Amino acid sequence: MSFNLPGPESLKILKKGPSLFKYGAEYEDMVKAAEKQGQKAPPQMINARGEGSYVIDADGNRIIDFHSGWASNPLGNANPEIVETVYAALKQYGFIYEHRLRYDLAEVLAGISPGGKLTRTNFEISGTEAAEAAVTYALKHTGRPLIIAFENQFHGDSIATRMLGSNRGAHRRKGFEAWRGGVITVPWPISYNIPAGMTFEQYTDYVLWYIDTFVCEKVADPESIAGIIAEPLLSEGGNWMPHPKFMPGLKKLCEKYGWVFISDEVLSGMGRSGKWWAIEHDGVSPDLVVIGKHLTGGIEPIAAVIGTEEVLAHNDGHSGSTFAGTPAGCAAALKTIEIMKRDNLVPRADTLGKKCLERMRKWEKEFSIIGQARGRGFLLGATVVEKTTGKPDIGVALAVVNEALKRGAWLIWDTEPQFRLYPAMNIDEEVLEKGLTITEESIREVELHYTPSDYPFWTTGILW
Ligand SMILES: Cc1ncc(COP(=O)(O)O)c(C=O)c1O
Repeated sequence: MSFNLPGPESLKILKKGPSLFKYGAEYEDMVKAAEKQGQKAPPQMINARGEGSYVIDADGNRIIDFHSGWASNPLGNANPEIVETVYAALKQYGFIYEHRLRYDLAEVLAGISPGGKLTRTNFEISGTEAAEAAVTYALKHTGRPLIIAFENQFHGDSIATRMLGSNRGAHRRKGFEAWRGGVITVPWPISYNIPAGMTFEQYTDYVLWYIDTFVCEKVADPESIAGIIAEPLLSEGGNWMPHPKFMPGLKKLCEKYGWVFISDEVLSGMGRSGKWWAIEHDGVSPDLVVIGKHLTGGIEPIAAVIGTEEVLAHNDGHSGSTFAGTPAGCAAALKTIEIMKRDNLVPRADTLGKKCLERMRKWEKEFSIIGQARGRGFLLGATVVEKTTGKPDIGVALAVVNEALKRGAWLIWDTEPQFRLYPAMNIDEEVLEKGLTITEESIREVELHYTPSDYPFWTTGILW
C-alpha cells in the first residue's frame, strides 16, 4: 500500500505556509530543490487527528506513528484517560497558583526517582528551561562558574542550551559562538564511525582521560568547574548507547572533583529506555535529573528538575516561569505515571524493545545501507550508510524515512544519517510489527532501487 502524500487537502494547507510562518517557504523550497534534481516532491502531510499509535492526516490517510510527538506521547496520541483528567483539572482549577497537585506530583516523582534519592522538585515548562535550570542549580550549589557539556548532545535551542550542546554542530551555533561563556565542551563517545580508528572502548577511555587530564590540567582548574551535564543515552542525533564504562567514569570524575552530575533525561527518561531513568542502566546515581516530554503523556507542557537534598534543599538558584507546574500539567503527569505503573509499561518497553532490536540487528547483515542498529527500550534507531562508500549518509537516511512515510509509517529524521523509531509504550504489538515491516521494506526499496541521483537533495546541502 502506498499513500500519495501530500494529498490534496494537505497540499492546500501547506501552500499557505510561505506567507504565514518564519521561514514558511521551507516546504516550497524543498519541492523546488527536488524538482531541480528531477525528483518527485517529498512526501509530507498535515495532520488532522492523533489517535493512539496512528496519525490521520487532512486527507484521511492513517499512518503508523513512530514519531510520537518527537518522543513525547508515551501513551499514544490523545490518550483519552489523560485528556479526561486534564479536562477535569481545567474545570476545577483553571490556572491558579498554590494548588495541591504540585505537591502530589512532587511526591510521586520523588518515589520513582533514581534510587528514591532525588526527593526535591522544581517545575518548568519545557525541557530547554529545565536543562538550563539544572545548570543554574549546579553553579549555585558549588559556587563555581564552569560546566562540562558534550558537544554532540542536545539540551534545547535557547541561546544558553545551544551552547551546552548542539546535535547539528557548528551550523546551529553559527554567529552565536561568542555566547559560549562558561561551557567547556568535549565529545560524547559514539559507537559507530569512531574517529582516528579507535575502538568504542578506546574512544570512551580517551574522552574520560581528556576530561580528567587535559581539561583539568590545561583548560580549567577543576575547582572552577561546577559539574557535568550528560545525556545518559544520546538521543537526538542518533540514539547512541554509552559504552558501559562511560557514565560510571563520569560519575567517578564528579566524585573526585566535587562536581554535580546532571542527567538530562528529557527524551530518554520516564520509562522510554525500559527503566524509569536511562541512567539506571549504568548503575549511576545522579544529583539532578532533567525531565520533560513524557512527563505529561504529551498532553500538557510541563517539565521538571528533580534533585538530591544536598543539591536542592537550600539552593537559591532562580529558575521557573509563569506557567511552570500548571494544575492541568500536574494532573496529566500524575495520570501518566499512574497508567504507566498500572499497565506495567516500563518493563513492557524493555521487553518489546529488545524484541524489536533483535529484528533490527538482522538488518545490519541483510542490508548494505544499514551500518548499525541501536536500541534500548523504545528508543530505537539505525545509522544509514551509502552503499558504495559505506559512509553514514543523511540523504540515504532521508530516502528511507520518505519511503516509509509513503508506505504508512512515520519515523524521525533530523538532518542526520540515522532514522529513529519512538513507538508509544502502549502500542499494540501487531501495529509495532507492521511499522517495523514497513521500515524494513523501505530499506529494501532504497537499497535495491535508488541510485545516488535519487537520494533527497539534503545531501547536496541546498538548504544548508
Ligand atoms: C535531551 C534533551 N534535553 C532537552 C531538550 C529540550 O526540550 P524541549 O524541546 O521540551 O524544550 C530535548 C528536546 O528534544 C532533549 O532531547
